[in-house]
Parts: sequence; C-alpha cells; structure tokens
Amino acid sequence: MAKGTTKGTSVPEQYFTNDTATAVPVTPVTPEHLSAWQDGLDARHRAWADANGFRARPGSVCILAGDDGRVAAVAAGFPDDGGNVIWDWSAVAKALPPGSYKIAPDVDGAVLDKDRAEQAALGWGLNGYAFDRYRHTKSKKDAPDTPDANTILVWPETVDVATVLSALHAIWLVRDLINTPASDMGPAELAFAARDMAEERGAEVSVIEGEALLDAGYPAIHAVGRASAQAPRLIDIVWGDTSAPKVTLVGKGVCFDSGGLDLKSASGMKLMKKDMGGSALVLGLAAMIMDAKLPIRLRVLVPAVENSIDGSAMRPLDVVPTRKGLTIEIGNTDAEGRVVLADALAEAVTDTPDLIIDCATLTGAARVALGTEVPALFCNDDEMAAGILANSALVSDPLWRMPLWQGYNSQVDGKVADVTNAPEGGYGGAITAALFLERFVQPDSGEAPAWAHIDMMAWNTTSRAGRPEGGEAMGMRALFSYLVERFD
Ligand code: BES
Ligand code: ZN
Ligand code: ZN
Repeated sequence: MAKGTTKGTSVPEQYFTNDTATAVPVTPVTPEHLSAWQDGLDARHRAWADANGFRARPGSVCILAGDDGRVAAVAAGFPDDGGNVIWDWSAVAKALPPGSYKIAPDVDGAVLDKDRAEQAALGWGLNGYAFDRYRHTKSKKDAPDTPDANTILVWPETVDVATVLSALHAIWLVRDLINTPASDMGPAELAFAARDMAEERGAEVSVIEGEALLDAGYPAIHAVGRASAQAPRLIDIVWGDTSAPKVTLVGKGVCFDSGGLDLKSASGMKLMKKDMGGSALVLGLAAMIMDAKLPIRLRVLVPAVENSIDGSAMRPLDVVPTRKGLTIEIGNTDAEGRVVLADALAEAVTDTPDLIIDCATLTGAARVALGTEVPALFCNDDEMAAGILANSALVSDPLWRMPLWQGYNSQVDGKVADVTNAPEGGYGGAITAALFLERFVQPDSGEAPAWAHIDMMAWNTTSRAGRPEGGEAMGMRALFSYLVERFD
C-alpha cells in the first residue's frame, strides 16, 4: 500500500448510469398506498406479492419477475410520513440484488421533485461506500472492475448529476481520510491528501512544517505535535476571487490522540484515529465549494499533528505561548485540540474574513450532551446560527445549537497563564472548550468576525444502510447548503 494513498477502491460513479434500456422500475409504495398498488397488479404478481408478505414496510422490497423469469419490476416500501429520503433510498439500494434500476412514479403517478430526487440519488450512492482498501477478500459487489455486479441507478431526469457526484465524492473523501489508520494518515499524509484535493481544483496550498512553525509564529501547534515521530504541520489552502466574500474554514487535524502524558485509557484511545475528523470534514466541504465554484474567497487552515509522547512532550501545567500572544496553561495534555486550534483561529481572524467555521472532534462532553449523531453548533451570530440550522433541517444533516454561555467564561482563565485548556471540574466541557476558542477568535482590536464552531463525533458507531460503521461527514452537507444559500 503506497503511503499517502487515501482513496478506496470504489468510486460513486459506478453506482449510476444514464442507460434506461434494461433498467427495472422501482415503485415507491407506502403502507397507505399498498392496496392501490396491489390492485394494479395482474393476478399472478398479486399472488406473488401476497405470498411474500409484502406490506410496504420501510426498507422492504418486493421483486416481481416477468414471463422470462427475469426481474421485471420492484416495489419498495416507504413510510407514510415521507420518512428520510436519503436513508430510505439507501435501504432500498441495499435490499436489491445487483442490477440496473430506475425510480418509477409512485402509485398516484407522482414523481420525486428535484430536491427529493437528488436526496434519493445521494442515498443510493452512499449505499455503495465501503472502506475496503485494506481487505484482500473483497466482496464482488465492491470490486470496481465488475460494474455489472453493482446495484446501479439510472440518474433521475431532474437531478443535477454534478451536484450529487460532488457531494458523494466529498463524503467518500471524508470517510476515507477518517477511516485510514493513523499509521497511514499522520500529519504528512494528511497534508499530502489536502494538497491532492486542493490542487486538483486549482487552489494554492502551502504547508509550514516542524521547527518552521516556531519561526512562523505557531508555537501552540508545535507544542502539541513536537513529540511525534512525524513533524507537526499547518496546512493552508487558498482558492477563489480575492475580492469575493471571505470564508475561512478551520479543522482539527489531530491524526492520533493518545492523550499525551495524560494518557487516555485503552477504550478512550481506541477510536482516536478519527481525531482528524474536523479537518477531513473541512477538506470535503472545501471540495464541494470549489466543485460548485461558489463565489467566495475560500481559505482552509488545518493544524495537523499527532498528540504523542516522548521526552519533548508537553507536560501538565506547562505554559504554552500562542500566535495571539495569550499564554495557555496545560491543565490536561489530552485537551490538545483547542491548543492547536488556538493558533489556527488566531491566524484565521487576521485577514478579516466575513465568516469563520471551525470543525473539531473537540470534547467528549459534547457527546455526553448530544450523543454521537448530533454535532454541537456554537455560534457568536444568531442570524448565522439560524441559517445553518435551517439548512441542517432542509438537507437532513442534524446539528443542535449550544450556548457560548458567558457566565462560564471565567472558568477558562488560567491560574499562572492567561487561559487554561482544561477548566476545573469539567462541567459544561463542550461549552468551556468553545469559550476557550472564542478567546482566540477575538481580534486584538475591533469586533470578532461571525464564527461557528462545530464539535462532532465524525464517526458512525453502528452500521446502517448508507452509513457503515466508521468515519462520517457529520454536518458537512448542512454547512454547504448554508454557504450556497448565503453566497450563491
Ligand atoms: N479528541 C478528544 C475528544 C473526543 C473524545 C471527541 C471522544 C470525541 C470522542 C479531545 O482531545 C479530548 O480528549 N478532550 C478531553 C478534554 C478534557 C481533558 C478537558 C475530553 O473531552 O475528555
Ligand atoms: Zn485529547
Ligand atoms: Zn483530541
């Protein structure tokens, strides 16, 4: 396996076709419409559907054979309330045998509108994702050289194919980056993958590495990453018209979080290859933005480090200088994410962007508060927060707002330094982490830019249709939809 190769073996395109000739129609049927659907069948098919107990249960399918014995038509069960278009279609794709299919009008003759058709296609495509680059015993379904073995969908007519493929590629990228073991996804490989993604789309990439971080004024990124065999880095991507509104994305790129000297437990450490999930997510989001040619000036900053241990590792109660000048008291070496983000956010504010969005697998506390599937949104601008939440609902990509509760702000004060990275007690840990970041979003003079911070899991803890256990681009489509609404 070549180092720096992050791509899996499957590509989204292999699950779609434009060829309607041999495609089997898939009719969506809800329990409410079941009898109307049955009434439209000939006696033989009706008996077959009855014998198979098809009740239009969401996720179930009924396959009808033609006179030649081949698959001629399919009915797919959907919930009466409309359900979730994306995941319901993932479930249909998963339930069907390999072959070529097309979405038929429902029993009333209604066809999916553009948004729903795009969501259906997205769900269908996501069913094809598998992280199998380390598996030698591949299933036939996932082998790219046997397209006939795939479950393929004819692109619905109303769908903007490029938009759906861009989203699928971005989700593929985010999942692959997160799923790749830390042994093959250290700061060097993350920088390589970022460069690959960005240069392919005409962006400019610069990377500051190792000791050069100290000369360039990023002491906090260096302090967290210096104990790793792979040098810490700051990845900086710039794209778009310099006169357009400025959007800066910042992603936590901790390629592995051992906890440092405050070492994590075995169970707490196990999933920590995903601690670069925030950076994966902003890289995927950047790819979507560039694919769509959004009229913005985009900047992406990723502090890429491994939180490791050697004689140079930062210690509890060490004081770390930062780019902004504030000093950080290390209350806990495991609260490393906010330390690297401090330098990246301080840099982000310097070129006065119209908005900053940072994404990070920042705290266990956010997961205690909201569970694994709902990322926490913190935002210093109510209008922006409302816009993000509205788009989150629109595209079925959940987020939940939590407060930048200023009453807790003094908890972030340090005892010997300006701030602490681990407030005593730990209550409201997701909030105090966000308040810590807010200190670095504040420019030396004037008002802070509009800023959203997303604290997320970036990982599916169980496998469901279209969402296998492993890395996940939580919140990415919501943010993209918001940016399109605001700037396009
Ligand atoms: N990467 C972790 C946070 C994390 C853990 C996110 C599990 C998602 C799932 C982060 O670096 C961390 O360890 N945070 C500590 C902070 C504490 C020491 C103040 C935490 O949340 O326990
Ligand atoms: Zn940590
Ligand atoms: Zn971490």
